[in-house]
Formats: sequence, C-alpha cells, structure tokens
Amino acid sequence: MARVFATRALPFPALDRLRAAHEVREWHGELPPAPGELRAAACEADALLTLITDTVDAELLDAAPGLRAIANMAVGTDNVDVEAAAARGIPVGNTPGVLTDATADLAFALLLALARRIVPGAAMVRAGDWRTWEPAGDLGADLAGATLGIVGRGRIGQAVARRAEGFGLDVVHSSRSSGVPLQELLERSDFVSLHCPLTPETRHLIGSRALARMKRTALLVNTARGGVVDQDALRSALHGGAIAGAALDVTDPEPLPPDDPLLDAPNLLVVPHVGSATVRTRAKMAGMAVDNLLAALDGRPMPHPAG
Ligand code: DGY
Repeated sequence: MARVFATRALPFPALDRLRAAHEVREWHGELPPAPGELRAAACEADALLTLITDTVDAELLDAAPGLRAIANMAVGTDNVDVEAAAARGIPVGNTPGVLTDATADLAFALLLALARRIVPGAAMVRAGDWRTWEPAGDLGADLAGATLGIVGRGRIGQAVARRAEGFGLDVVHSSRSSGVPLQELLERSDFVSLHCPLTPETRHLIGSRALARMKRTALLVNTARGGVVDQDALRSALHGGAIAGAALDVTDPEPLPPDDPLLDAPNLLVVPHVGSATVRTRAKMAGMAVDNLLAALDGRPMPHPAG
C-alpha cells in the first residue's frame, strides 16, 4: 500500500478506487498547501495528486526522494517541472481530452458575453438604470460574418473552431506548425481566442506589439494560461482603446488580487479559472488522475502521461 498525498479534498467517486488500494491523505485546508506544507507532505509520500495551484519544481522533488508518481488533475502541466521529474524517473500524468468541450464552451461564453455586453447590461438592470429601449444603446458586435482568430490548434482550439462554424464566424488559426503567422491573425481577426500552452516561447506572446496589431474593435479571450498575456500591456491597450475589450478566465497571478490595477481597465471581464468547472468534467479529470496513479504505483505506464 503506497502513501498518496492529494493536495486538496477531492469529493469525486474516483477517489474511492484510490483509497481502496492505497493510503490517501487529503489536504483539508480551504486554500492549497503553502510550499513548505506541500514539501513536508511530499517528503512522506510515495505519490502526489496535484492541482494547478501546486508548484512541483526540482527543489520539491529533491526534498521528496520517495516519490514514484505525480498525477496532475489538469491538462496543463506548467505547474510541474516535468523534465526534472523525468530526470528523477518520476512519471507525471495529466488529464487531456475530458475538459476540451467544457473549456471551449467557456471560451465561447466569454466571447458572447463580451460581444453582446452581457455583464454591463445585467449590472445596468440591477442598478435601476434601464430606462427604455434604446435604439442606439448597448450595441454589441455581430458574430456571423466576423473573423475569429484561434491561437493554438490543439484539442481545445479545434473545439472552439467547431463552435465558431455554427455561429457563422470565419476562422483563422495560428499555431507552431500550421495556419497563418500570428501577426496576420491579429490584424485580420475581430475576435482572438487563446488556446496555446504556457511555455517559455508563449509567455507574454500577447504583449504591447501584438495588441497594437489587433483591430481597435477587436475582443480578446484567454482561457489558456494567464502568462500568455502581458497584463500590463493589456491594461494599457484597454485604457488607450487599442482593443475594444477582453475576457480572461486565467490571470497571472491567480487569484488576481481585487486591487490589481488590471481590474480598473474598461471592458474587461475576469472569471476565476473555471474553464473545466462542470460537474461531469471535474469528475472525469479526477478519474484520469486516479487511473494514472493506480497504474504508476502498480509499476505500469500511466495511461495519460504528460508531455
Ligand atoms: C487545465 O486542466 O489545465 C485547466 O486549466 C484547469 O482545469
């Protein structure tokens, strides 16, 4: 029986399969374990079930020589130093595929919310400012016939493209291996949706130069990782009118402090990293993380290895 440390209480049926085979200790704090707390728990564990809120770096791995497996309950693994783990013979697993539709749905929800000014409209009603039907008030942007630029052509980018077809959008994409150059995509698109992983190459991919290439009427949606966007540049672009609006499911840092200057920017919608947050999707993600751990602790390859 191996000792597994889960960095949060995970109320999903799949955890019962893990508990039946191994000793599982869950972190019951309301917030994730602090780095020192994670290190202390990892030192005594054979395996970790981590979330995107946990940093698993070489220092942590060195402090926990007994680790034999890490299952990250996310498709993104930028919180885990996968190379450092591999160098120590520790397999890392993730949860690809099961959150594709939920994340693509959220990207579309944000796009529609921005395009049709849903949040300011709802706020106006609650504030008692809805005085009459305004012929030229609260005007948004049409989707049909507009161009959506998708940055990244992985599973989620493709799922967003499928949804876009149904809305009559023209789609262009830009990825490492296909599509149009990023600059061209930015110049042509009425909406830009980000779906690339966060890597050293994509950090601040959308900075001041990229934002300056976009149409002044364009809207930006980020459901990928906060670090893909340079938030200072985004703030200036929104204040200066270089683009018309942005919706972010992901920020840098997370959570975004309520007094972060970005939140003063006009036409900005921020939600708290909920791309995969549906009942079915989160249960499936937990199931995949458990499958990865059960396999690795049994000496078999993980069914969903990262990277
Ligand atoms: C992921 O899986 O990487 C998401 O960002 C969190 O579900």
